[in-house]
Amino acid sequence: MEEKSRIMELYETIQKRHTVRDFLTKSVPEDILWRILDAGMKAPSHDHARDWHFVVLHDPERIAEVLKHVGHGAEVQTGIIDHWDTATECQKAMYYDALPKQVKMLSQSRCLILPFFRAGADLLMPRDISTLNPFASIWCLIQNILLAATAENLGCALRIPILDEEAYVLKTIQAPEGYRFPCYLAVGYPAPDAGNVQQQKISLQERIHLETW
Ligand SMILES: Cc1cc2nc3c(=O)[nH]c(=O)nc-3n(C[C@H](O)[C@H](O)[C@H](O)COP(=O)(O)O)c2cc1C
Repeated sequence: MEEKSRIMELYETIQKRHTVRDFLTKSVPEDILWRILDAGMKAPSHDHARDWHFVVLHDPERIAEVLKHVGHGAEVQTGIIDHWDTATECQKAMYYDALPKQVKMLSQSRCLILPFFRAGADLLMPRDISTLNPFASIWCLIQNILLAATAENLGCALRIPILDEEAYVLKTIQAPEGYRFPCYLAVGYPAPDAGNVQQQKISLQERIHLETW
């Protein structure tokens, strides 16, 4: 392939990627899944470490067990959004769409990826921003997965564990001591009627500052 069209493909993939929260039950072929995870493992890493692991879940019962602490009800949270004065209508629209779908979007495709990274106890009490490097690196991995999945015509949904969700997942999948769990990540074929919540419109011109802010 010519270099120019390779570059185009990369930008097209970046433009095409968006969060998918409605999936088909059609399974993701193992070879495609491996390519996507391999792309994740190619991410830049702090300390040249790449100390990352994945637990991949296909069994619906096991997925339900892992998601046991994820809240189903959207009522309380949507109540918060109604009173969230600083949010734009675009932000609110995303939350109204996303909140009721949290469990469904992570279980529907029957391909739930749980990434893990190793971090010290000081992660939540950082001395400076560099203490967060293990957390930053795993998000590079996650972005690679999101883009690779998009290039494979798949979609992804992710959720950050809140409250006791992380501890529960670490215990349930028997993660070794020292590993952390940044997000649940579902990969699958988008349902034909899967919505696409619009991104906030941002003017690049207003965000780029030359020489000084
Ligand atoms: C750090 C981070 C946390 C997120 N947490 C959640 C979440 O808990 N639940 C969810 O449905 N989506 C979550 N998302 C997805 C965002 O809602 C989504 O990326 C955003 O609305 C922009 O939409 P787009 O991905 O379609 O561009 C998260 C994304 C990021 C980067």
